[in-house]
Amino acid sequence: MRIQGKHYETIRIETSGTPAVSIIDQTGLPFAFRLRTLRSFDEVFSAIRDMRVRGAPLIGVAAACGIWLGLEETPSGSDLKDTVRSLCERMGKARPTAVNLHCAVKKMETFLGNTETLAGAREMALTFAENLKRSEISACRAIGKHGFPLIKEIAEKKKGAPVNILTHCNAGWLACVDWGTATAPVYKAHREGIPVHVWVDETRPRLQGSRLTAFELKEEGVPHTVITDNAGGHLMQHGMVDIVLVGSDRTTRCGDVCNKIGTYLKALAAYDNHVPFYAALPVSSIDTDLCDGAAEIPIEERGGDEVIFAEGKGGRIRLLAEGSPVANFGFDVTPARLVTGLITEYGICRAEKAEILRLLQKGEE
Ligand code: MRU
Repeated sequence: MRIQGKHYETIRIETSGTPAVSIIDQTGLPFAFRLRTLRSFDEVFSAIRDMRVRGAPLIGVAAACGIWLGLEETPSGSDLKDTVRSLCERMGKARPTAVNLHCAVKKMETFLGNTETLAGAREMALTFAENLKRSEISACRAIGKHGFPLIKEIAEKKKGAPVNILTHCNAGWLACVDWGTATAPVYKAHREGIPVHVWVDETRPRLQGSRLTAFELKEEGVPHTVITDNAGGHLMQHGMVDIVLVGSDRTTRCGDVCNKIGTYLKALAAYDNHVPFYAALPVSSIDTDLCDGAAEIPIEERGGDEVIFAEGKGGRIRLLAEGSPVANFGFDVTPARLVTGLITEYGICRAEKAEILRLLQKGEE
């Protein structure tokens, strides 16, 4: 998607010259647009952990790139199997919740098991990372195509009035490689001339909504309004939201949707007000090993400083007096019964085990 009219992807794999990965450093946005070059496994690991790159699909791709760089740094003569195992194990610890990272690491370990040489492993790791990046882009584009009719249908009923979409966190192109998940149908609708307006939850504590989603939408010229995290219920009660579109960091085979903390409350409000609530996700975010999301998905707890301090254009300020403990849960789980449907690259399905498995099977054929 575009920044100042120029097309960008969130991550670029550099193969001419010294192997490297170039990223948009999301910690500076929207005030500073910085590209960073990462040249080692450790630099990629830290970029994921510190959320310079973030969002489920993007950290899956970044993890694959990090393992490739790790192999590029490995001295010849090292035990290949041990090296691959150790790189994959370490990368798996970067962040716990988004399944894309774990799935990429696991698949990569298996894939790299097919070679006996370091040179072969480097080449295969690069191929894996490039393919994963490409497939995430096309998955997001397809999510846009499948989600678009939902918006179009509402627009037809509203006879020219803008379709009001509420979203939480940043499930936009910055969280992916291009297009985004929840935003892909919105961008598609906007480009097709359908009037849309997006309510953007600010998404405390890291403000991915107000800092990233609003930035993306502004750069693409999509009408939007930033709201506090607590405003959604009020808007829904007053008929000001036509549809809720969120992303997902991990969705179970039974349809429970794990996403940025606060999503569950939006789903409850949507359910109570008969507002359709959809999660948009590539199938790489579906964890078929798990069913009961609330019981089984590991929820990341991040440092308290993200709650205690706020960072903005003027720098960093303390928000609360010293002495009060804080907790910082990164994600929550919306039970399948509150989810109207899942929008994936293979199509839309209900958040139900049989439908999800059927969709996955159909997609693989
Ligand atoms: O902690 P983050 O910013 O990496 O969280 C991930 C997310 O951006 C969201 O939860 C998002 O809605 C799903 S990823 C497209």
